[in-house]
Amino acid sequence: MTQVLPFDPNKPNRAVLNRAVKLLSDGRLVAFPTETVYGLGGNGWDSEAAKRIYAAKGRPSDNPLILHFPSPEAVELSADVSDRAKKLMARFWPGPLTLVLPAKPIVPLAVRGGLDTVGCRMPSHPTARALLSACPFPLAAPSANVSGRPSPTDAATVAQDLNGRVDLVIDGGPCSVGLESTVLDITGDAPVLLRPGGVSLEELESVLGPVAFPRGALELRRSPGTRYRHYAPAVAVLLWKADEPFDWPSQFCFMGQSEPPVRPARQILFDDLAAFAHGYFAGLRDLERENLPIVVQWPDGSGIGRALQDRLKRSAGLE
Ligand code: TXA
Ligand code: MG
Repeated sequence: MTQVLPFDPNKPNRAVLNRAVKLLSDGRLVAFPTETVYGLGGNGWDSEAAKRIYAAKGRPSDNPLILHFPSPEAVELSADVSDRAKKLMARFWPGPLTLVLPAKPIVPLAVRGGLDTVGCRMPSHPTARALLSACPFPLAAPSANVSGRPSPTDAATVAQDLNGRVDLVIDGGPCSVGLESTVLDITGDAPVLLRPGGVSLEELESVLGPVAFPRGALELRRSPGTRYRHYAPAVAVLLWKADEPFDWPSQFCFMGQSEPPVRPARQILFDDLAAFAHGYFAGLRDLERENLPIVVQWPDGSGIGRALQDRLKRSAGLE
């Protein structure tokens, strides 16, 4: 049975945190909110917990998990922290940036998907921070959805997707960003953007100078997660670029920032790019219930738009 417990970080309920820490210490799973999406957490130093995470999500075990920490200093037991890593942590943590660093042996191979590196992040969501500070180990946490489905941005969606497969869901309210963290590999000489996300390429480049964002074969090798179909609702997703010819389906639902030229059965319109990013995954889950194709307007690719474009292409099965 999955238990859902509300948590207000302004009035932290110790009983909820104690229950979560007890479960996690026993190798069980606890879902919790971060500023990006909800995470499915397990003890990041426990290979059995990692195996439970892969099983609960139905996720291929060669797709590594991210470790979540309460502070930059806490990373040092799990990974080698270079000066460049420290600089990035100082600028972007807590926040939606995952750094791929050389792993230390305490991080089980099961967590790393067999790699010698590990993704590390310090989330800013106050509920995540309260939980991480209460745990004597980092939390391995992928997005708390069944593998391949859109990521969950509220507790009810987690409970729906993973009912019976996670022991506790901590309901700390909705996520503010709505798309996952940026994944940046800084193990080599030049930093490589493996997944665009909540911290934009422009922001990274303001600190690092040019950052490579390879697509295709190189990326697939370096970031195992990008190999699999992702963020897909149960219906087809079609991408509409306003300035290109488009074959409108006879009936469809729509998501975007401006009215489409053909009338949809249902639509969700967003005021700006941040709102679009924030509402995208929840919008897919909402509209898929109509059982019609979902047409999504292609967004501008600056800032968070690059991450949104990436998720759209994957939802549509184009990448
Ligand atoms: O915002 C987020 O990052 C959320 C919240 C819960 O923190 N987590 C998340 O985890 O999105 P997940 O497992 O759904 O996505 C992690 C991505 C995958 O594409 C994975 O392949 C990549 O990060 N990744 C993790 N560790 C890696 C490593 N050592 N090397 C390369 N890629 C790695
Ligand atoms: Mg995911």
